[in-house]
Amino acid sequence: MNKVISLWQHKSVQYATVSVVSVVGYALLSRVFQAVKDRVTPLRFMSDLHGYRHTMIVKAAIEYEIFTVIGELEKQNHSTISAIAKRINCPEKGTRILLDALCVREYLTKKRVGSEFSYYNTPMADKFLNKNNKQTYFGCLCEFILADSFLQKQANIVQAIKNNGSPFDSSLMTANNEEWVKFAKAMQPMARHTAQFVYKLVSKHIHIDETRPINVLDISCSHAEFGLAFAKHSKTVKVYGIDWPNVLEIGVENATILGLKDQFVPVSGDALAMEKYGEPSTFDVVLVPNFLHHFSVEVNVKTLRKCYDLLKQNGVLAIVEFVPNEDRTSKPEAVLFSVNMLVGTEHGDAYTYNQLRDMVEQAGFKNSKLHMASSGPMPQSVLSITKQ
Ligand SMILES: C[S@@+](CC[C@H](N)C(=O)[O-])C[C@H]1O[C@@H](n2cnc3c(N)ncnc32)[C@H](O)[C@@H]1O
Repeated sequence: MNKVISLWQHKSVQYATVSVVSVVGYALLSRVFQAVKDRVTPLRFMSDLHGYRHTMIVKAAIEYEIFTVIGELEKQNHSTISAIAKRINCPEKGTRILLDALCVREYLTKKRVGSEFSYYNTPMADKFLNKNNKQTYFGCLCEFILADSFLQKQANIVQAIKNNGSPFDSSLMTANNEEWVKFAKAMQPMARHTAQFVYKLVSKHIHIDETRPINVLDISCSHAEFGLAFAKHSKTVKVYGIDWPNVLEIGVENATILGLKDQFVPVSGDALAMEKYGEPSTFDVVLVPNFLHHFSVEVNVKTLRKCYDLLKQNGVLAIVEFVPNEDRTSKPEAVLFSVNMLVGTEHGDAYTYNQLRDMVEQAGFKNSKLHMASSGPMPQSVLSITKQ
């Protein structure tokens, strides 16, 4: 033993031992990594084959208001299968299968209480999917995103790829399509969040207070959340919202609810066909949220030219879009959004930063500063450009 200890005190023995251990360790680790790499399984494919099931489970849960019901029953310590089934007016077997599936997807948790199981909302489900939490309720998004017409389009992706765009007629982008009324009602909570972000970003570049009138143009205003985010901050802000007449009714309704009706001017009509949206140099801010992705580059350049003319010097144009990275793979939400455009529009796409910059430059915004920011938890980007 003493011999071993005295041998270990030699530096060269220590170095040799560490080297041998390192080499052997490295070799072992490499083999482990290789084994993991070589373990090719079809799990991803199997999971994607069933992916629609997750969507349908959520659709059913929202339709039956499961998270609202559980939120209310939880308070009475009575969120059992039988109590929930009774509230949603469904048989117990079907209810139990839905509830357990929602546990698997981590919307609910399940605990044995006495002889029965009780179900509880996870914090995410309670905050965003319980209707009683009015300020944060997101469940209404299903009414647009999971509408039958929308799902039908996704189901036609094979033809859309061959067709280089939607194989259907382009009625979605024509006047008074009811889909956009659905959108205006369903997407408000999500838009409100992003609109607040856009306001903060734009107000860094333009001074908004009560000392002077501020004109804001909101192109494809829908629910009008984007323009109204500015109106909320100053009584001298006037918002002009362009959209189809049937959709504008929702914008006006929303402005009225928010007590901002006097600051909202609905401008009804086809934004693409309008010669101009107003007199040159009238607007301090022009908003183009979630509009450009429906159209080709050429059409967008025309729209952006009109925006350029309308803006005052030092006015700000803000574009909200799903913007994939240039590699078109590394920002999954934005990349997959282009699939929606392929199946749902004739010529639309999710445009990259470079493509959008080219469009605004072709429209006249040369030498202007272009800022890009990501809107928090929403996978959207905002580009703001000052007219100089
Ligand atoms: C994806 S939604 C975006 C709505 C809103 N800007 C937002 O970001 O939540 C597209 C909107 O564009 C409107 N729209 C589509 N084509 C239009 C056109 N040619 N003229 C005016 N509005 C149009 C639709 O009615 C709908 O409200």
